[in-house]
Amino acid sequence: MTYITQPAKPIRKAVFPVAGMGSRFLPATKAIAKEMLPIVDKPLIQYAVEEAIAAGITDIIFVTGRTKRSIEDHFDKAYELETELEARGKADLLAIARGTSPKGINFSYTRQSEPLGLGHAVLMAKALVGDEPFAVILPDDFIDARAGGEGALTEMIQAYKTHGGASVLAVQNVERSQTASYGIVSTTALDTLNEIVTDIVEKPKPEVAPSTLAVVGRYILDADIFSYIENIKPGAGGELQLTDAIAAMLKDKPVIANRFTGTRYDCGSKLGYLQATVACGLKHPETRDDFRAYLKAAS
Ligand code: G1P
Repeated sequence: MTYITQPAKPIRKAVFPVAGMGSRFLPATKAIAKEMLPIVDKPLIQYAVEEAIAAGITDIIFVTGRTKRSIEDHFDKAYELETELEARGKADLLAIARGTSPKGINFSYTRQSEPLGLGHAVLMAKALVGDEPFAVILPDDFIDARAGGEGALTEMIQAYKTHGGASVLAVQNVERSQTASYGIVSTTALDTLNEIVTDIVEKPKPEVAPSTLAVVGRYILDADIFSYIENIKPGAGGELQLTDAIAAMLKDKPVIANRFTGTRYDCGSKLGYLQATVACGLKHPETRDDFRAYLKAAS
């Protein structure tokens, strides 16, 4: 198999699996979607959508569930709010409210009615994606771009283009004790930032993990992934695992692992969420100076 396939088609669509219950954040997530929890003043999901748009994505596809109506409302026009802000001459706030749904970006929604796994969630987007390569973004994995750098998805699309349209997984090294929380890859060398994936296994125990190189929530996938998902059996946790479909696909098609350069925060955990909040609070123009002074005095 060669790792230079064909001229890479543009990546226009990104799938956001957001049907999960968010039980690790109860009671906050009893009535609202966990993706709507704010980091400073912006919901987690909006950071992920902005990363996608910055990478050239024009079609945002949410795989949602019953309790996720707030996500649809967030990316829609807020008619009453906008009319009110306009009447009061609050141009800056109006721009912020309108900024969630930029012109030229299409938002679509489909539902995952049962929690049958990430592979199943991605499969729900099959009809909306069609026959073209696409991105998958797990918004719980918040990736803060390196100062002066591009977003993680932009870097991955660069790797995708450089390597002739190969599928791309974002990876980073984790502590060996953490391997059971991730898809873990085996790789061979390719170039400075990328490696060829030779195998991938979902949530291996530390003693059997083939490496400590973990997949974080960003994927660029060949459209053929859907047929691989359709042919896998339930795996780890009894769920249809995207990892298992990728493991099957990489026997036939190139898959590379990309070491993105930003900082990733696991906002599916309380600690990661707090760390992301501090990082963003120290950058936000309204809070950074006072917040830095506060943290210094408090430590
Ligand atoms: C999912 C994937 C896993 C990946 C992780 C990244 O797991 O199944 O392979 O490493 O996202 O965050 P989850 O965190 O949904 O259990």
